[in-house]
Amino acid sequence: MNICIVGTGYVGLVSGVCFSEVGHNVTCVDQDDKKIAQLIAGRSPIYEPGIEELLVRNQNNERLRFTTNLEGAMEKADIVIIAVGTPAESDGSANLSFIESVAREIGHHLTSYKLVVTKSTVPVGTGQKIKSWIQEQCGKMAFDVASNPEFLREGSAIYDTMHMERAVLGVESEKAKELLIELHQPFDTRLVITDLATAEMSKYAANAFLATKISFINEVANVCEQLDADVTKVAEVMGLDPRIGSAFLGAGIGYGGSCFPKDTQAFIQMGQSAGYALKIVPEVEKVNFEQRKRLVMKAKQAFGLEGLRGKRIAVLGLAFKPNTDDMRAAPARDIIPMLTSLGADVRAYDPIAMQAAISYLPHITFASSWQEATRDADAVIILTDWNEFKELNLQELKNQLASPIVIDGRNLFEPQLMKSHGFYYDSVGRIKIEIEGESYEGTSYRGSRLHRQKLS
Ligand code: UDX
Repeated sequence: MNICIVGTGYVGLVSGVCFSEVGHNVTCVDQDDKKIAQLIAGRSPIYEPGIEELLVRNQNNERLRFTTNLEGAMEKADIVIIAVGTPAESDGSANLSFIESVAREIGHHLTSYKLVVTKSTVPVGTGQKIKSWIQEQCGKMAFDVASNPEFLREGSAIYDTMHMERAVLGVESEKAKELLIELHQPFDTRLVITDLATAEMSKYAANAFLATKISFINEVANVCEQLDADVTKVAEVMGLDPRIGSAFLGAGIGYGGSCFPKDTQAFIQMGQSAGYALKIVPEVEKVNFEQRKRLVMKAKQAFGLEGLRGKRIAVLGLAFKPNTDDMRAAPARDIIPMLTSLGADVRAYDPIAMQAAISYLPHITFASSWQEATRDADAVIILTDWNEFKELNLQELKNQLASPIVIDGRNLFEPQLMKSHGFYYDSVGRIKIEIEGESYEGTSYRGSRLHRQKLS
């Protein structure tokens, strides 16, 4: 099939390279000529494992093209996919101005039947708006609008697209349905055929539910801390029930990224303007933010009465999750300013997100390795679950630190292992290891017995 994709952000670019990889002819369009030149040169503007290999291979075999010319790209296309951004407005609702201008431009250039598909996450009802925006430009020319939301995760976006678990085809005509089935034919996936509004809603509901799972397990973790239970085991038990499932039960410092925070907000807005005020999702958001604050409390508590003023804190991990340099809504952007406002001197290291982090975190020092970040630090705080940190040589880490305090927002290490290495170790929803080698009644914020003097 001939496909035109408008927008070479995460969704558009990944879909473009994957659709070409399975045999479709794809032309990706973007108004940013520098980005297009970079893509033509085989360089990806986003960090995504495996993407450049597909980018080069499919350009070489001429199944993948990049251009700034929408009219030309649309000419032979059977399907035009809209994958431009829908940034959040100050009230949390989705801004549709990019979608509208692309829809109008598509309408303007329409010279034969096209199926126009939205992949961007858009509020329910946007498909109908797109239809009228196109209609206003193209008059009587025939076209269809469909919704085909994207569920890929950053960091495994290529894998997720090539092995998609399901594809939602929100359609209004038999022709649109047939074209979307043909588009997905090379993928071994389950197709769910719906109307436009249901397809649009499914994306918000899925993301809000995953966010709810994370906040739920974080609350369980907080109670575990009070009662000496271990949240990782509780999650394991819960997850073995297929009705619950084991995914997204990792307690920590809450979700970040470009989707969950934005989509939960937009969902709340959408409910409100549709006349139903959601009750669970706003609480999910609150719990998510509280979780960041609790980690800062744990760091503060580790120093007892001394507090964080003047303490050298090594932060390991800045990206909102591993295998990406994405800093959007990253917990680090909330947690680090809280630490500095308490007087801590923060030195941070991330394997790849430091360049992206600089503009968000101007008042901290960046280190070029974990060793440099942790050298002579009074404590280390882990914010991203990179493999590099999971595999840290704990003895080397201990030797680097001025005091062996580890506050782990991602539960990377076994508390008992940390105890055997002589660390003070506080994680999320598990027993806290204090310095004298005893373990206490969980992290209950009842005041730490640890003081710097004891450590030296
Ligand atoms: C998410 C959805 O998974 C994807 O389907 C949708 O299309 C876009 O949003 P993404 O934002 O790339 O994808 O990241 P994801 O891997 O889902 O993680 C989101 C956040 O949740 C991260 O900050 C991660 O650290 C956090 N998380 C995830 C947890 O805190 N605990 C978990 O158990 C899982």
